[in-house]
Amino acid sequence: MADTPLIELIDIKKQFGPVIALNGVSVSVLPGECHCLLGDNGAGKSTFIKTMAGVHKPTTGEIRMNGQKVDFANPRDAMNAGVATVYQDLAMIPLMSVTRNFWMGREPRKGVWPFQFLDMDRANQVTLEEMRRMGISLREPDQAVGTLSGGERQTVAIARAVYFGAKVLILDEPTSALGVRQTANVLATIDRVRKTGNGIVFITHNVRHAMAVGDRFTVLNRGKTLGTAKRGELKPEELQDMMVGGAEMAELSSSLGGTV
Ligand SMILES: Nc1ncnc2c1ncn2[C@@H]1O[C@H](COP(=O)(O)OP(=O)(O)O)[C@@H](O)[C@H]1O
Ligand SMILES: [Mg+2]
Repeated sequence: MADTPLIELIDIKKQFGPVIALNGVSVSVLPGECHCLLGDNGAGKSTFIKTMAGVHKPTTGEIRMNGQKVDFANPRDAMNAGVATVYQDLAMIPLMSVTRNFWMGREPRKGVWPFQFLDMDRANQVTLEEMRRMGISLREPDQAVGTLSGGERQTVAIARAVYFGAKVLILDEPTSALGVRQTANVLATIDRVRKTGNGIVFITHNVRHAMAVGDRFTVLNRGKTLGTAKRGELKPEELQDMMVGGAEMAELSSSLGGTV
């Protein structure tokens, strides 16, 4: 991992009227790093990634990319700078083919205007190739995306973002709706993307999923963070405790017979 972060968010505060959603949160993502952002519901995770992705402007604080201060006026700015978000709904059309979902109107064309048409052979070929690089062999690229498993659809969304230039990939709870095997596939995809030098922000409230691929971990708790830990610095139980506010959870857990 190189030293200059791909992206840095420094001392970010975000206020919605009287609600302080983020109160001084700093996170950086290095090339080739998977930075896990953990936190319970309402902790501020979505607000944080939307700030990173140009949806929200921070009330105060600074964003830098490759060491240079940036100001994202909108999500398009962030995309152009290489920050892509894969949201939970994945922005896919189930009845359309994998290829069509992969390209989403950006299909390669052939011919000379006004006699241009979509080059579907090339579109299919690139889609197959990019999916293969992510460890998924499609039977046919024109099968409907809705026939893929949840984990495979997640991988289509990730492969698409990377192909179209993402350097920092924000994944919003990519494993929360998946079974064990599908989760393993998505974690393997994250590992592949990281190895190509891209940075990943992996949002989850599942400590085991985070531990499986994370290089660093930042826990949000009611808009604040206690800082960032490196892999190996914290045990899973410690991360879990930070997430839900230690003492509170210990009490709740013991009242349920230690099963939470
Ligand atoms: N657009 C908004 N307007 C007002 N309050 C908001 C808005 N977005 C988020 N919040 C508040 O900010 C806090 C953090 O929310 P959120 O970032 O969605 O948390 P998480 O994604 O971790 O569940 C919550 O108290 C939420 O109600
Ligand atoms: Mg959220």
